[in-house]
Amino acid sequence: MKAWQLTSFGRENLKLNDISQPTPGPGEALVRIASVSLNYRDKLLSDGTYNPHLQFPITQVADAVGEVVALGPNTTRFQVGDRVVTSYCTRWIDGAPTSKESLYTLGNVIPGALAEYLVLTENALALAPSYLTNDEAAALPCAGLTAWYALVEKGGLTAGQTVLIQGTGGVSLFGLQIASALGANVIVTSSSDDKLARAKALGAHHTINYKTHPEWEDEALALTNKEGVDHILEVVGGPNLARSIKAIKPEGQISIIGIIEGFDATIPLFSVIKQQALIRGISVGPLRALERMLKKFDELELRPVIDSVYSFADAPKAYERLEQGAFGKIVIRVHE
Ligand SMILES: NC(=O)c1ccc[n+]([C@@H]2O[C@H](COP(=O)([O-])OP(=O)(O)OC[C@H]3O[C@@H](n4cnc5c(N)ncnc54)[C@H](OP(=O)(O)O)[C@@H]3O)[C@@H](O)[C@H]2O)c1
Repeated sequence: MKAWQLTSFGRENLKLNDISQPTPGPGEALVRIASVSLNYRDKLLSDGTYNPHLQFPITQVADAVGEVVALGPNTTRFQVGDRVVTSYCTRWIDGAPTSKESLYTLGNVIPGALAEYLVLTENALALAPSYLTNDEAAALPCAGLTAWYALVEKGGLTAGQTVLIQGTGGVSLFGLQIASALGANVIVTSSSDDKLARAKALGAHHTINYKTHPEWEDEALALTNKEGVDHILEVVGGPNLARSIKAIKPEGQISIIGIIEGFDATIPLFSVIKQQALIRGISVGPLRALERMLKKFDELELRPVIDSVYSFADAPKAYERLEQGAFGKIVIRVHE
């Protein structure tokens, strides 16, 4: 079968290789991949920042939808013909993770889904909602669950609260859609006025251009009568976290998600103490949370925002688009 594999660090080392089709063992399913979607971590994986110890060659990409075409012995959850999506943390089923459960991710420690077929434990698969196309379903797993787990499962978001969403990438637009659907007031930041106009059309109440207003926290305070916001999805990281702390309401929550501006941060501790802010790391989420999210998305008929769709042959172009900062999700169609 064909698989896009990283053979060394550097996007130029993403190669289309012929490799043998895997066979499902006990507890595993063979999935014929229909579509996959990219996440910022796929860029970090290819440039060596995410996991400097990556073992080459390694098939790339974590998020996928496809059809179960064969089952190994002792499988109980699916039937041949079921349409399934992948769960990002393949060994994390529910509850608090053990120290290792968030490590076994596709395209990193185990082979990824940018291939014609994927073998995976059935405990890392969930039924894809029938109202979504393959391209839409492929967009859900990592970015959707991260926003859902942060805002809803850990954050306990309630209607009327204010949520600040940074940027208009995959996690951020899911955050906007989820928060808006649950009745929150949403503030979105972006580098682009055009993207902010599109965010408003998706339900954002207020927008801030962080290029023209680098001190975006002052704008956020002004928009909330100086009270601050209840929940921030910190997808930027680095020095941006100190700004988020200034923008948070007393007892507000900051979900630490991304590291676009840096893996390290110096934060104003006195502000954290004064605001009694809750700062919580988020590592996507477990299978059961994915299933709960899919059920809610089905009820809401929430459709992911797709920035662009590329053919399997054009996978490197999809990675180029990722570098540019997409509005929503980038999809690669593996089988038409
Ligand atoms: N912890 C977890 O579980 C988890 C899960 C998923 C992702 N992540 C992390 O979350 C981050 C986002 O991932 P993604 O896949 O959603 O990325 P993405 O789709 O590539 O989106 C990146 C977006 O970030 C925005 N951005 C860049 N610099 C910014 C800044 N200074 N202020 C505000 N926004 C800024 C840009 O939005 P504009 O173009 O609108 O300016 C850009 O489009 C990455 O660091 C990723 O590694 C973590």
